[in-house]
Amino acid sequence: MSIISVSSSQGSYEVVIERGILGHSDRAVSSATPAGRMLMVVDQAVGASHGGAVRASLGPDRVAGVVEITAEEPLKRMSTVERIWQACLQVGLDRSGAIIAVGGGLTGDVAGFAAASFMRGVDVVQIPTTLLSMVDASIGGKTGINVPLPGSDRLGKNLAGAFWAPKLVLVDPETLETLPRRELRSGLAECVKHGVIADRGLLALIGSHAELLAQGDRAAIDTLLPRSIEVKRAIVQADEHERGSRMLLNLGHTFAHAIEPITDLDLTHGEAVAIGMCAAAWCAEGCGLCSIEDCESLTRTLSSLGLPTSMPRAEPIDALCDAMRYDKKATGDRLRLVLPTRDAAVVRDDVPPGAVREAWQRVMPEG
Ligand SMILES: NC(=O)c1ccc[n+]([C@@H]2O[C@H](COP(=O)([O-])OP(=O)(O)OC[C@H]3O[C@@H](n4cnc5c(N)ncnc54)[C@H](O)[C@@H]3O)[C@@H](O)[C@H]2O)c1
Repeated sequence: MSIISVSSSQGSYEVVIERGILGHSDRAVSSATPAGRMLMVVDQAVGASHGGAVRASLGPDRVAGVVEITAEEPLKRMSTVERIWQACLQVGLDRSGAIIAVGGGLTGDVAGFAAASFMRGVDVVQIPTTLLSMVDASIGGKTGINVPLPGSDRLGKNLAGAFWAPKLVLVDPETLETLPRRELRSGLAECVKHGVIADRGLLALIGSHAELLAQGDRAAIDTLLPRSIEVKRAIVQADEHERGSRMLLNLGHTFAHAIEPITDLDLTHGEAVAIGMCAAAWCAEGCGLCSIEDCESLTRTLSSLGLPTSMPRAEPIDALCDAMRYDKKATGDRLRLVLPTRDAAVVRDDVPPGAVREAWQRVMPEG
């Protein structure tokens, strides 16, 4: 078992990493929140399995109700939050209650936002079941939903949300056994991101164990988890509300957010981030921040994990640049981009539009 403690302005909380912990989650949950009545919000894909294990451990008296949600980006929206609020009311949750989120980052974001806003805030416990949510989404208190963009049928990613620190994060690597390999690889993209921005040793470790990691090898995953979580902890603790260094976690995301809502591209969040990181690297190269070799090395690492490094099909660059404007990191008309350097990453809001266009061009398919 490893325990990583995260401090936040809303109190500190523990990230507990232990194989099989879901089966005895009651102890950790009881010491993290006094709530006697809870609503479980669970991804329907893991409702019976991992959700069932948590429910059995907490008991029917404490878990007063369960809301199953479908983990699809178009459903990460206000109507789902309302469904959760309604269920809270139905089971008589008051301000002393808690929401237990069991699922990937999508479930955690929606359930976390519902918890942040129901009766102006009830406790939330995050129980991530994807690699991405274990190392990234469940830690740091960011919650959110997508919002329809004006005059468009697209959704703006995570444009509404709140900072709402969990009372506890329970990471059970056993839950990854049921996770489709493609989703596992998507989580590895965020681990690569952590390596690029803050821990080049981690990046080297991922590169040298790429095959094992992509296959979900238990020992490789057990080594990776605390290291990647530690990067996230250090960053969110230093800059909880994303006024400075936390922005580095958005490496690749401003590009990714432009392509993720194009549903027929069929990209997972992590896959979009992988392509986005490549675009960010090429953009950095265009700005003289890193070399062509650095871009190629990142591309190789992502590729060795089975992640995409270019777009599945060509898309109009004008539309992609336009969609980037709705990213939360945009300030007025200026795009704020995180760009990798030789040994870390920097936040820039003076990137010439031509460099962004050129970066998109670099990740378009050949021919
Ligand atoms: N709050 C943050 O700081 C933060 C950070 C990164 C990403 N995010 C958000 O997280 C979301 C992506 O999260 P994700 O990659 O975890 O995806 P996800 O929650 O959409 O889950 C991916 C897929 O895996 C399935 N699934 C989840 N756990 C499973 C398991 N153990 N076994 C079998 N299937 C399982 C889900 O049903 C879904 O089909 C995005 O909405 C993104 O915006 C938030």
